[in-house]
Amino acid sequence: MNQQQYHPWLFRLALATAIATLPLMIVGGHVTTEGYGMAFPDWPTSDGQNMLTYSWFHQTADKFYEHGHRLLGMLVGFLSIALVIVACKVADRKWIRNVCIAVLACVIIQGIIGGTRVTENSKGLAMAHGIFGACVFTLMSFLTMVLGKRWIAISNDPPVLPAGYGRRLAITVPLLVLFQYFLGGFLRHFKTGLHPHMSFAFVVLIFVIIEFRSARKSEVKWLKRPAMGMLHIGIFQILLGIGAWITVFGLPAAGFVAKTGSWQQSLFRTAHLMTGILFLMTTVLYSVRVFRLHQLNKNRSSEQSLSATDSLPNAEGNV
Ligand code: HEM
Repeated sequence: MNQQQYHPWLFRLALATAIATLPLMIVGGHVTTEGYGMAFPDWPTSDGQNMLTYSWFHQTADKFYEHGHRLLGMLVGFLSIALVIVACKVADRKWIRNVCIAVLACVIIQGIIGGTRVTENSKGLAMAHGIFGACVFTLMSFLTMVLGKRWIAISNDPPVLPAGYGRRLAITVPLLVLFQYFLGGFLRHFKTGLHPHMSFAFVVLIFVIIEFRSARKSEVKWLKRPAMGMLHIGIFQILLGIGAWITVFGLPAAGFVAKTGSWQQSLFRTAHLMTGILFLMTTVLYSVRVFRLHQLNKNRSSEQSLSATDSLPNAEGNV
């Protein structure tokens, strides 16, 4: 089996890029929650001024957060460029270099979608910016995982997985979560589809519970941990969803009236969005692990059958 090398600086840079994306998404989420998306009519300039020289500290809240979001996006852009440079210098695997380039390309596309959302004043693009952002973060987390020591250790000594284990679920669950994310996006940006979004949450939860139970049975720690995380995040997400629903639409039966712009509403809406991103990421990383273990198990069994064939006596009876 090929021994993979650990590159500490590449790993740290990938981790730093993913971590720097968290405040970017929180501020971006806050911008949409509060309706600050059109604080500036222009992009890439802010009120006609260069992004870096624009004085934003003493601006109104909408400009402060929207400009802060743009600057954080720039920071993530620089980190992604550094990631590609370091990967081209040190990464021994071509596909790792390609994933780093894909991260940079996605960050650029994400910036363009965000900018066009402003210049076109388009809610559809705002929704696309939200969904694509979650996918880019998932890609960054995937890169961090495959550059980590644990991934390499597992590659060198993979635990055994029963044949056919969990593949269909590994495809289904992230797709269901992504679909649920779409429904959430419609609700957030177009204020439509509350009931489909609420009902589908329980379909997602059932599938996550099934996947969690099968991970527990597999006795593979590398799968059990993310499956546990996935279940907890899923339950927490539903609770935040209930909070967002009550604070956005009110609960007349309990005498609760929704107040636009209240801190409770802001908190629940942005926290629900962020947890949705983390939920999508966890389900995808779990699935990647399932497929990785299948691939490693397959490689090992073909190596074993090759070495068994090599040790068979040949026609002259030599071993
Ligand atoms: C599997 C569980 C769930 C997931 C993955 C999920 C995901 C999401 C996401 C990602 C968004 C924002 C989308 C965007 O900004 O592009 C959203 C919005 C929303 N979700 Fe969920 N959700 C779940 C469950 C629920 C539940 C159970 C409820 C209500 C009982 C709910 C109520 C809402 C509401 C009210 C919004 C709009 C909030 C706003 O206007 O900011 N969600 N959901």
